[in-house]
Amino acid sequence: MCTLQRSFLALCLIASAMASPTGSNLALQAVSQGNNLFAHNFVKTISKDQTGNLICSPLSANIALSMAAVGAAGTTEAQFKDVLKLPNDKAQTLSGYQNLIEILNNVENVTLKLANKLFVAEKFPVKPEYKQNLVSHYHSDIDSVDFSQSANAANTINTWCKEKTNNRIDSIVQAADLDPGTALVLANAVYFKGKWANEFDPKDTTDRPFHIDSTKSKSVPTMYRKGNYKFVELPEYEVKCIELPYANKDISMVIILPNKIDGLSALTDKLEEVTTQCSVRLTQTYEREVKVYLPKFKTETKLDLGNTLSEKMGLTQPFTNSADFSGISDIPLKIDKVVQKAFIEVNEEGSEAAAVTVVMFTRCLAIGNLPPPLEFNVDRPFVYSIVKTNVDNEVESSVAITLFVGHITEPTV
Ligand SMILES: *[C@@H]1O[C@H](CO)[C@@H](O)[C@H](O)[C@H]1NC(C)=O
Repeated sequence: MCTLQRSFLALCLIASAMASPTGSNLALQAVSQGNNLFAHNFVKTISKDQTGNLICSPLSANIALSMAAVGAAGTTEAQFKDVLKLPNDKAQTLSGYQNLIEILNNVENVTLKLANKLFVAEKFPVKPEYKQNLVSHYHSDIDSVDFSQSANAANTINTWCKEKTNNRIDSIVQAADLDPGTALVLANAVYFKGKWANEFDPKDTTDRPFHIDSTKSKSVPTMYRKGNYKFVELPEYEVKCIELPYANKDISMVIILPNKIDGLSALTDKLEEVTTQCSVRLTQTYEREVKVYLPKFKTETKLDLGNTLSEKMGLTQPFTNSADFSGISDIPLKIDKVVQKAFIEVNEEGSEAAAVTVVMFTRCLAIGNLPPPLEFNVDRPFVYSIVKTNVDNEVESSVAITLFVGHITEPTV
């Protein structure tokens, strides 16, 4: 039986990192690779369930959940390690995340900011070592909140979310989510704003048809630019991919466009394979002149991740009365809810994207020749992601960190 106590862990972040085995930074490498594996599973699971437009941040979910994992023990900890693909050694996990967060918070020419926070119920005893780990390795702030004043408490959490996402996400919890039983809320926020390396000229934006499905199409404001881009075709998967770099050359938007108008669901079924092939092939290719047509879009998604994590990804025990968060407190806790909200806007200038993930805890009773210009006409449902490469500068081929990912079935602005 659960008591009335609840806690919220708010997690809002998404990042991707790269690493490879020169040994200079094994912790960063292990955490980056784990992050990448988690991102693939996360996106695969989410994409299948989301029929309309989607934006989500595997990085934000990963960091928020990893903060919960750091306070877990026993089977609960083992499940976190398995689902988040964490290193076996906790010291390595802590230093890997610290490194990753510091790297992602120091990216030049674009704005990329990650923030973590622990909201604790007044007088709720959290172990000093856990607080110390959040502060020193996750650069987390800690504040105490009176959850019995649920409207005020929700306001405190939502104000933090707004601040950390440049007002793009103005609420993540409601007063009804909180009550005097709430013990903790862990939160993570990821915010990105970047201009394209080569901006689209607004004068070239025109209304063009976008094929929502094989019978329906809609006229949408579509940007146009002819320029040099990395572009590959993967006929074996019936898709084309393009990389649109931001002002920092290590951050780009990768778009995967099915050849068939109704090809999105086939793409979603093989997303991990196709995404991997795309990024490998894009690294190997050279820039070519391409005429790019890309609709402007703006979308927001709210995801209840509790069911996804427990029913589809294997993170079951943290949600039950057998949960073991003895690293956080001697008072038994379990996770009540995990919620993510994410936002993206793509226009001629660049992109702005934000995500917040919150984990809420309930207290429980014990228990060569210039080829002709090609065309990349995004006029049908497509998949997109914002990725950061070269997280580990010392390694040439490293894993990319997926900051944001989604699909657009019907562009809206
Ligand atoms: C940042 O911008 C400067 C000036 O345009 C450029 O020289 C530099 O390569 C950019 N940095 C990255 C990492 O792209």
